[in-house]
Amino acid sequence: MKSAVRQFAEEVAEMYLAKRERNFAPCEDLEEFAGLLSAVDWSGDPVIAPPPGDVPGLRHLPAALSAAYEAGDCPLLDALRLCIGLAPWETFYSRSAWSRPFIDNFASGELVGPNGFIRNRDVSLGLFVLGPETTYSEHAHASTEIYYVLGGEAFWRVDSPDRERLYRPGELVFTTPHQRHGIRTGALPMLAAYTWKADPAAPSYYRSGGPWRGGRRTEPALVNR
Ligand SMILES: [Fe+2]
Repeated sequence: MKSAVRQFAEEVAEMYLAKRERNFAPCEDLEEFAGLLSAVDWSGDPVIAPPPGDVPGLRHLPAALSAAYEAGDCPLLDALRLCIGLAPWETFYSRSAWSRPFIDNFASGELVGPNGFIRNRDVSLGLFVLGPETTYSEHAHASTEIYYVLGGEAFWRVDSPDRERLYRPGELVFTTPHQRHGIRTGALPMLAAYTWKADPAAPSYYRSGGPWRGGRRTEPALVNR
């Protein structure tokens, strides 16, 4: 079981280094992420999660995975496929007014990390599914984050809700600590791998009661944390 997650982590690390070779900025972060994934201690016991409870967004996983295979990168996807049953799938956020727009079309499973199948405090690596026609509300966190789009496509809004860019399979989306960002899908579901470093246990938050800069910091409640 651990070998599947290890294989996936090694594939992601290798891909980050390949992107670095092609001068994808910021190269130093890609190199650090790859180093952290390569340094994961695989000797501990994995944490077997119970079968996922109410994670309705998982219904989008088959279509998103099919879209990923159509897009390519098969070695990484073959490794990912073996991890699907090991991921502690969850809605991540509890149900609230903030999460309502996406909670039923959202699924997240941390394979490596503070709450992952393999526990690690320095980096997290997980799978992320967002169903079609869904908006993952704007949020921020202290961690540096990279999404690697594997299947489908989505618009990322970084720094401003008015600035959107469409990301497709093979592309990386990078956000810096405390950078405001949200995600919106169109007709296609989206499957991505995510990695967090620099305090991967830090909570996500959003701003309420005013504009982003002046609003009150609010941490949405999480499930199982
Ligand atoms: Fe994020």
